[in-house]
Amino acid sequence: MRELNPIKNAESFVKDHLDGEGTGHDWWHVVRTRNIAEHLREVEGGDDLVINLALLLHDVGDRKVINQDDDDYSIAENFMRDQNLEEGLIQNVMRIIKSMSFSKSLDQPEDKPDLIEFKIVQYADRLDALGAIGIARAFAFGGNRNRPLYNPELVSQTFSSRQDYINSQGSTFHHFEEQLLLLYDLLNTETAKDIAKQRDAYMREFMQRFLDEWSGQK
Ligand code: ADP
Ligand code: NI
Repeated sequence: MRELNPIKNAESFVKDHLDGEGTGHDWWHVVRTRNIAEHLREVEGGDDLVINLALLLHDVGDRKVINQDDDDYSIAENFMRDQNLEEGLIQNVMRIIKSMSFSKSLDQPEDKPDLIEFKIVQYADRLDALGAIGIARAFAFGGNRNRPLYNPELVSQTFSSRQDYINSQGSTFHHFEEQLLLLYDLLNTETAKDIAKQRDAYMREFMQRFLDEWSGQK
């Protein structure tokens, strides 16, 4: 029998699952991405159920959240199967979740679902990595992994494979140049770019000020 309200069920499942999450991928990250996605969807369109299920479930099996070498997609998929959701819906949601990560796109840049829902979910997730929230999340992640705030002896790297990106041991400040500042160019709708523009500018301002203070400016 099909569940009456898979979204409500997903909300409790995900809240439980992400309880105690300390890398910036907690329940409130999910709430923020859903709010951003709703704004993007009002302009771009897209299926509400697909977008919301994908955002609710996108991080439950993420390698950073489960602290393993690889993502575990079975958590999201098994949840949807337990809800007796239609196969086509499950497939669409899983295609989105499996293709949305920055690191995956380093290995397979062309391998993305041709769905407006994919763009909305991926862009909402990326927008939450930018701006004041993005800064806070990056340092939360770095602290969780015992990474230094900054190390002026290191230089930023350009990653061309997922493995190199994952293996990198740089400082959190370097992560801004290595990933966060690249995101603006990877958002390809007007609506997403509009939001990203201010967030990107705010991060650049923060970085300049961080370096100024680091170098002794009072
Ligand atoms: P994706 O999950 O799309 O592959 P990432 O693995 O880069 O993307 O992680 C997304 C979020 O996790 C970023 O927005 C950032 O907050 C955090 N994050 C990932 N790697 C780092 C890092 N090395 N330093 C600081 N934050 C990171
Ligand atoms: Ni996310």
